[in-house]
Amino acid sequence: MKTEMIVFGNRDDLIRPAQMIADGSVVAFPTETVYGLGANALDERAVARIFDAKGRPADNPLIVHVAEKEDIPPLVQNISFLAECLIDAFMPGPITLVMKKSERIPDSVTAGLPTVGIRIPKNSIARDFIRLARVPLAAPSANESGTPSPTRASHVMRDMDGKIACVIDGGPCEVGLESTVVDVTGTEPVILRPGAVTAEMIEETCEKNGFSFGCIRTQTNASDQETPSAPGMKYRHYAPRVPVRIVHPGSDGHDRVFLREAETFLLMDSKMRVGLFCGESTRMHLENALPENEKKRLVYYVYGPDTDVESAANKLFAGLRSLDLSGVDRILASGFGRGEIATAYMNRLEKAAADDSPLTSHSMNPKERTVLFVCTGNTCRSPMAEAIFNRIVDLNGPYHDADNPSVQVFLKARSAGLATPGGSGANPFAKEAVRRFFNADLSGHVSRRADETVVNSARLILAMEEGIAEGLRRKYPKVSDRIYPFAAYIQSAVGLKIRSEYIQGWDIKDPIGGSLQEYTEMASLFKEMITAAFPSILNDLSARVSDSEKRVSTL
Ligand code: TXA
Ligand code: MG
Repeated sequence: MKTEMIVFGNRDDLIRPAQMIADGSVVAFPTETVYGLGANALDERAVARIFDAKGRPADNPLIVHVAEKEDIPPLVQNISFLAECLIDAFMPGPITLVMKKSERIPDSVTAGLPTVGIRIPKNSIARDFIRLARVPLAAPSANESGTPSPTRASHVMRDMDGKIACVIDGGPCEVGLESTVVDVTGTEPVILRPGAVTAEMIEETCEKNGFSFGCIRTQTNASDQETPSAPGMKYRHYAPRVPVRIVHPGSDGHDRVFLREAETFLLMDSKMRVGLFCGESTRMHLENALPENEKKRLVYYVYGPDTDVESAANKLFAGLRSLDLSGVDRILASGFGRGEIATAYMNRLEKAAADDSPLTSHSMNPKERTVLFVCTGNTCRSPMAEAIFNRIVDLNGPYHDADNPSVQVFLKARSAGLATPGGSGANPFAKEAVRRFFNADLSGHVSRRADETVVNSARLILAMEEGIAEGLRRKYPKVSDRIYPFAAYIQSAVGLKIRSEYIQGWDIKDPIGGSLQEYTEMASLFKEMITAAFPSILNDLSARVSDSEKRVSTL
């Protein structure tokens, strides 16, 4: 099939593509979020062509796009007051509401689900196109299944050339991330996919309309549930061909962390080329800091100022695609703390980076030396210890391999929880305590379970309680000789018994529910413990501070 590209100039340009929809063909069109792959939602054969072109699994439902609010009622069983409030507040706009479907919607559109996602795009080309087509348009993002969503017509052409009838080129998409998907079938809204309409905005609207839900639930991780309500979330998404690694900002921003990560890869393999999705000052920092021969192996995609998460969100998919095409072997991409649009950005970036397990980077990269702190939920104790350890690492160093002093190595703490589904931010007091007293940053922290991958990536594992150490040893017997209760480790390695009201036996008390004062005392306890243990941790990581005379500075 020959795929025609129509560059939008005026409304008349949409007449022919609208006719193609009437004929049962598939047409890609721009929306404010990403490009969509549209076909008549009421025609099963046309819908089947979307699944074919995209290579999409048949159990992943499509969103139905309409032009006006009046077009919604025939497609759904009823519109609850909650749905009505969200429609009034956010449509047209980057939001999709999941409601109970009416009989008019074929099962193939919704993959057999009794619900349908409805969206009114804000983009005027999209709305005019739907009006001219005179039918609701079923449309997923117009990418090949698994690749980053297209935010330009050229991206669509790359994935869909020869597979669909036509692409309408309406320029770059304004938002750049797909719509927020919200399930409104229950009494409370549930966010199935974060987007530019944020949880904060939905909360505010609900409150204004007299609902009192407090925090809106977000349920984006379908793999953990038996019947996922956002079936699409279980599939691999947004991923370029090469591995992506997230670079979380340090206390003083992104640039130094990017430098360290980039150097790790550049040193690891003299042929390796690294792509960077980063901000302007990070680029300048790297250009100033690196030698010529290493700079040559970097490819940048700069989204704007380092801290501009909106630009980063807008350019993420374009950046990943462009770096992928440039032939780099690895991509490093800016991470941000959660909240507002950053939540949607991190959701997509984490999916793109899903295969960058610490295990692969560790086994690939003998220069990275990791110590893992483990507590129960990975929101208080272990992230604090991680942040403080990483600050102490930054203030000292550089570090070299203990056996081979000409090899520079990179020390790093990670943290995990023995009993957590993961996905939460750090406790606010934990954040505040490490920020105030150590200028360390936990805003980008996301809790994770102490799974095989993270455990295997560490050379030393320090548990906050004896029971946690035992639990880890039972679960991971092969690495049990690397696992210690943190307090016991200090005693046996340094001969120092740390006395504190927060330590009982080999257990460091869980501060959860405590005051900021208690978190602060705990942070200062961790500083004391890590400083005491630092030489022996270095030893266990087979690392040395470069200048052997240099005393470890202690913040
Ligand atoms: O911004 C967007 O939403 C773009 C533009 C083109 O409108 N569309 C888009 O569609 O991103 P797609 O198919 O790539 O993603 C739709 C997501 C999928 O994760 C799908 O599983 C979920 O929405 N979804 C669709 N219908 C659903 C339903 N009835 N219940 C739960 N989730 C649904
Ligand atoms: Mg998609």
